[in-house]
Amino acid sequence: MKKYADLIDQTFQFPTEEFEVKKDNLHFNGVNLMHLIEKYGTPLKLTYLPKISQKIQLAKKYFNEAIDKLNYQGSYTYAYCTKSSHFQFVLEEALTNDIHIETSSAYDIAIIDNLYKERLIDKNTYIICNGFKRPLYLERIAEILNSGFKNCIPILDNINELDHYVDTVENSFDLGIRVASDEEPNFAFYTSRLGIRYNSIVDYYKDKIKDNPKCRLKMLHYFINTGIKDSAYYWSELSRFMYKYCELKKICPELDSVDIGGGFPIKNSLAFEYDYKYMAEEIISNIKWICNKNHVPVPNIFTEFGSFTVGESGATIYSVLDQKLQNDKELWYMMDGSFITHMPDVWGLNSKFIMLPVNLWKNHFHKVNIGGLTCDSMDYYDSEAHIAEVFLPVINEKETMYFGYFHTGAYQESLGGYGGIQHCLIPAPKHVIIDLDDEGNQIDWLFAEEQSSEEMLKVLGYK
Ligand SMILES: Cc1ncc(COP(=O)(O)O)c(C=O)c1O
Repeated sequence: MKKYADLIDQTFQFPTEEFEVKKDNLHFNGVNLMHLIEKYGTPLKLTYLPKISQKIQLAKKYFNEAIDKLNYQGSYTYAYCTKSSHFQFVLEEALTNDIHIETSSAYDIAIIDNLYKERLIDKNTYIICNGFKRPLYLERIAEILNSGFKNCIPILDNINELDHYVDTVENSFDLGIRVASDEEPNFAFYTSRLGIRYNSIVDYYKDKIKDNPKCRLKMLHYFINTGIKDSAYYWSELSRFMYKYCELKKICPELDSVDIGGGFPIKNSLAFEYDYKYMAEEIISNIKWICNKNHVPVPNIFTEFGSFTVGESGATIYSVLDQKLQNDKELWYMMDGSFITHMPDVWGLNSKFIMLPVNLWKNHFHKVNIGGLTCDSMDYYDSEAHIAEVFLPVINEKETMYFGYFHTGAYQESLGGYGGIQHCLIPAPKHVIIDLDDEGNQIDWLFAEEQSSEEMLKVLGYK
């Protein structure tokens, strides 16, 4: 029987850019995870901050190089979509890269206020305000426009939204329209509920915006739910969107930008392959081709990458509490956490994350199921992105196995909740931040202790 290390060696190109094994222990982006576990214990969430800047710089590079190569006459602007992770330390790191922000709700504007107060953004920062807006969100957008955020661009999600800004914003302002894209053919709905339908847009512009001295239509926006994929569906939606842009541009000279949303994928398996450079080039070249064909100048391009910005900075590390052989062949590794509360995408979307043991790489391996701590029968993990099985090292007597899910940095806290109550009152794990100092040495600190019972009982109204 082979060792776990052999299984990985023979299945993947290993070590990878992020992972290597030294002295039987896994290192993630150069971080010795056993050291971290010895210092902080498990369960443990970690954020490796340098990854965030690295990803932003990569996306800028892909798009700017494509722009140069194709002699594209528009610019590229990177906006970070806050909903993928609202944490201050994420925004602070992301904003060291000369980027802009996309918001989704009224409370995001409170984040904008805070970032401005802390001088992490200024009034030239693009604030792209998306989402179906409650009155408070509309008010807050008008407030920041009135306070001088001249690049705050409300993106109209429906045809009633504009009136509020026209009534409450003092000076003239730029705005965008979100176009409702068609969903992928196998989705439950034909057209997205988000945005304004294609057929209404030109008439809406003519009726409400064209002769309105208060506002200028600057941006057309769309978002493809299933991400940026090299599929017939993605390219046909991009073309449809760009044809609409050209149609509008012919009657709306102020229109000069498109926002193509988020959707760059992240590595969810050691076998993951995606040609980001090729995709950026194809996007730019398609946009250019359609604009040329329609004799329209090419637009400036904005993106709002969420997962891509922050996903690969995160990991969640557990230990195996016990093993349970529930029949002749189903062996469970019971972990000290829960998929439903800590990684809800696993349970809600059947998402996969890279999963690797931290230690015991020299042990033999076997097939296991991983069980979460809640009583929900769906709180388990039994397959990976590349294979419908999970293999982990055998745990011998007196050994403790630690293992991690990697690239869990996006959306999991926003979906699972953070600081509230969760299924079976499973607490949020400790959260550790890792950075590099000016000399390139690793520094780490505790951002949050494991959630306490007092905190939960308070939420629940106990005195
Ligand atoms: C409007 C909009 N922009 C950007 C994003 C970010 O997408 P991703 O995290 O896939 O990059 C989303 C995600 O839901 C979105 O709805």
